[in-house]
Amino acid sequence: MKRKGLIRAAVLLSGVSAVTGCGNRNISVLKPAGPVGDSQMDLIRLSLVIMTLVVIVVSVLYIYAVVRFRERPGQKKEIPEQVEGSKKLELLWTIIPILLLVILGIPTVSTTFQLNKKPEPAESMRVNVTGYQYWWAFEYPDYGFETANEVHIPAGKKVEFIMTSHDVIHAFWVPSLGGKQDLSPGRINRLVLQADKPGIYEGRCTELCGAGHALMNFRVIVQQPEDFEAWVNRLKKPDSQPDNDTAAEGKKLFAQNCMGCHAIQGAGYKVLGQTGPELTGLSYRTRLAGVVNNTKEDLSRWITNPQRIKPGNHMPAFDHLTEKQRKALTEYLSGLK
Ligand code: CUA
Repeated sequence: MKRKGLIRAAVLLSGVSAVTGCGNRNISVLKPAGPVGDSQMDLIRLSLVIMTLVVIVVSVLYIYAVVRFRERPGQKKEIPEQVEGSKKLELLWTIIPILLLVILGIPTVSTTFQLNKKPEPAESMRVNVTGYQYWWAFEYPDYGFETANEVHIPAGKKVEFIMTSHDVIHAFWVPSLGGKQDLSPGRINRLVLQADKPGIYEGRCTELCGAGHALMNFRVIVQQPEDFEAWVNRLKKPDSQPDNDTAAEGKKLFAQNCMGCHAIQGAGYKVLGQTGPELTGLSYRTRLAGVVNNTKEDLSRWITNPQRIKPGNHMPAFDHLTEKQRKALTEYLSGLK
């Protein structure tokens, strides 16, 4: 019986850690993957040590007082010595917390300034980030292209993210790499991050921005410098031409239905007043809309009813398309390189 209870508790705990993301290395502040995350982790450790010391000292004093001065049988009832207004005690419990705050404050302030330093242009790269309800645009000014919901960066290089918002306030957070930073309409904010090793690091919007907020996910894809260069070169020379008849039909459907909101720079489709993600190089992305796997089935599901996948987003349902048309559009879009 007891054992069953234990097993149940273990299952429950592992379930909790699964849904809270505790088991995922790539979305944890406690498992930093770059110098910014490391220095923030150092601050977490320092404050944890100080707070633990305070808890221990207070607990020991409390237990000592309770045991030492408890009422004993037969003891005469008398009011103990009053210490109200004791200069010694007042000074002691004013100075100790001030000292602790100074010990915590100095490294915190100096780390904040250090992390906010503008990196040398020669040793860093720049990515412009724009938040939209509910997706992310990542523009590479040095390379002249834009992508969405997945930002590729090379390992070991400082990346300066320059951020703003198209509509409401969003916030950019990649727990493993450090952060976070608000994206406010009409304002420019910046955040410098660096990743040590290649990998996929999960990012989240952490400012309640509307119905789709909880699904406004993105990924930081960290690559070896040579792999990153290869990705850049592919996107600099995109191939957005259909390679079969079905896809060619899809391209026509795209021009009729989608280009009011979505650009495919590689195919010469540009939009003014952009409302949807750039789709050039869609086939390289690991996920669609930051939430579902990048497969033809999910793309087709998205086109038919995007609200089911990400409630509140601005894309209308294209359920008037016939099965054949949907297949053609999916064929074209999923082949974009
Ligand atoms: Cu964007 Cu929350």
